[in-house]
Amino acid sequence: MRTITHIDRMQKVSDDLKKEGKTIGFVPTMGFIHEGHLSLIDIANKNADVTVASLFVNPKQFTPTEDYRCYPRNLARDKKLLKKRGCSIFFYPDVDAMYSKYFKTEVYVRNLSKLLCGVRRKTHFKGVTTVVAKLFNILKPDIAVFGQKDAQQVIILKRMVEDLNFDVKIVIGPIIREDDGLAMSSRNIYLKKKEREEASVIFKSLKEAEKMIHDGERNASRIKKRMRRMISTKKSAAIDYIRIVETKELRSVNEINGEILIAVACFFGKARLIDNIIINL
Ligand code: PAF
Repeated sequence: MRTITHIDRMQKVSDDLKKEGKTIGFVPTMGFIHEGHLSLIDIANKNADVTVASLFVNPKQFTPTEDYRCYPRNLARDKKLLKKRGCSIFFYPDVDAMYSKYFKTEVYVRNLSKLLCGVRRKTHFKGVTTVVAKLFNILKPDIAVFGQKDAQQVIILKRMVEDLNFDVKIVIGPIIREDDGLAMSSRNIYLKKKEREEASVIFKSLKEAEKMIHDGERNASRIKKRMRRMISTKKSAAIDYIRIVETKELRSVNEINGEILIAVACFFGKARLIDNIIINL
């Protein structure tokens, strides 16, 4: 696996790969690699000739009170895991190179960025779309692979790609879970023992919602109420939101119908965890 730290170099390498007729599969990450990321590498490996993974802890997607400074980092381990999984190029740019002191341009997907996680994390998605737009321009990937765990991120990035005509196909990898159902996340490292045990209730509440719908329940409020009650039995849980929305505009639904996203964000101690399930009736 080749490591590239300079943006110009990465652009040149991508251009050369294109000239050779090779397709590029891209997996953007903020590092602290786990099986969730590695499953995205597998998808890129399967769907493109060359897999590039980036590691960039993007300051613009953290709100001022969030964990940018102490976001978990382990460069040596990340490189080892990515290499072992068949990643060919590791792009690791510097913050000052990505955002020069004159940096002014932002990419913002209206409305969608304000909802769900955007209520609490007001500038988060603007940071995500800005950095992903930059990375797409640097790498010019044929496909880019993102995880379904960040369901709202995926919906926003697909909107950005369509609206701004980025010549890249977005591919979504399924949520990878621990044995008890907890969705894998770099932030799971923050969980204390009891919080870790209790955190699996998020997925259990989503499964319960799925079962209610399977059994014929169509009333969104009743489903959310049951989920809220389940999660609230755990002492360390502080629910941020439980929402049932349609998947185009992320508008709340009263009746379960068509394709819907059930999304949860919940604090366990200092870890804010998210999870979701998509149901198509
Ligand atoms: O999902 C993430 O890890 C980040 O939001 C991303 C897509 C790498 C952009 O920084």
